[in-house]
Amino acid sequence: MRKRPLGKTGLEVTELALGTWGLSGDGYGPIAEGEIERVIPRAIELGIELFDTADIYGKGAMERVLGRMLPAGSLIVTKIGTDLGSTPPRKRFEVGFLRQSFEQSQERIGRDSLDIVLLHNPTMLAMARTEPFDFLKDLKKRGTLKAWGVSAGSIDVARAAIRHGAEVIELAYNLFVAADLHELAGDLADSGCAVLARSILSHGLLTGHWTAEREFYPGDHRADRWTGPELKQRISQLEALRPVVTGPVLTLRSAAIRFVMSNQLVTSAVLGPRSVAQLEQLVREAGFGPPYLKDTALAELAARLKGVGIMV
Ligand SMILES: NC(=O)c1ccc[n+]([C@@H]2O[C@H](COP(=O)([O-])OP(=O)(O)OC[C@H]3O[C@@H](n4cnc5c(N)ncnc54)[C@H](OP(=O)(O)O)[C@@H]3O)[C@@H](O)[C@H]2O)c1
Repeated sequence: MRKRPLGKTGLEVTELALGTWGLSGDGYGPIAEGEIERVIPRAIELGIELFDTADIYGKGAMERVLGRMLPAGSLIVTKIGTDLGSTPPRKRFEVGFLRQSFEQSQERIGRDSLDIVLLHNPTMLAMARTEPFDFLKDLKKRGTLKAWGVSAGSIDVARAAIRHGAEVIELAYNLFVAADLHELAGDLADSGCAVLARSILSHGLLTGHWTAEREFYPGDHRADRWTGPELKQRISQLEALRPVVTGPVLTLRSAAIRFVMSNQLVTSAVLGPRSVAQLEQLVREAGFGPPYLKDTALAELAARLKGVGIMV
């Protein structure tokens, strides 16, 4: 699998990463028994060496399983800043809490030195303080951390992270949500900050397989993500993109992945499979090297998105 430099960190990471939110059973509902233990080794076989998780996925279970199953040389991105001990869970970015969370992640992953640690969806209020960033910079200086950054839920948080010197940001980037990353291009180029692109299928919508009547099981975050009319509109917007499915781009899913991989601002696309079959489809349909999408196809996609009211 091809690699790209992780910004200015000196690390190189695979262009595809395995995300573990869906596998954890959180967010999308339960997964088949034993599937975690099948997906992770298959990802390794397919050449993936970057794994994305968070301390809260499966209440820490995903950090443990990655720590146990990954060979040396694989890199783990984990995220801290959520207090599951409070009801309801709340965001916390004060240094004492971050230190405790970092140590718990070290214990669960089973490594003294962690690879990449991100603040998990901080608010702009949290971003106004310097202490969390000083804390992460200090860990790096001491050698207990290779790189640090922020998983950003908005363009403002991403910009603030870059201003604080983040080496890595993670954010949603897909055919429906592309403008933020494109707007950040100048900041990213100036800073050399790396980008992990997540939610590249818009939580599955960009597979193009859904009907407007699709129902979600209880516990699936998608049940609350779109109203009925919004989902209907998204599905009709997808129809406008179908003509780009041609030649090596065999599916809409393939177009969605290749769109992300085509952007040189993206260091790695974080996949979110919930089974081995989904993982194999995603890796196969990503293609094996540039150009993931020809310039003409990218221009056609941009024009078609614009035509249905989506700015890229
Ligand atoms: N704040 C954060 O830091 C944050 C937030 C979100 C995600 N992430 C990371 O990014 C990863 C992926 O993001 P995501 O889960 O938001 O979104 P995603 O990759 O856009 O969508 C994942 C969903 O798409 C469907 N899917 C996956 N592969 C498929 C395939 N081959 N064919 C058909 N459907 C397929 C699955 O749902 P169904 O099969 O059930 O339809 C799956 O749950 C997560 O695992 C996590 O590691 C981080």
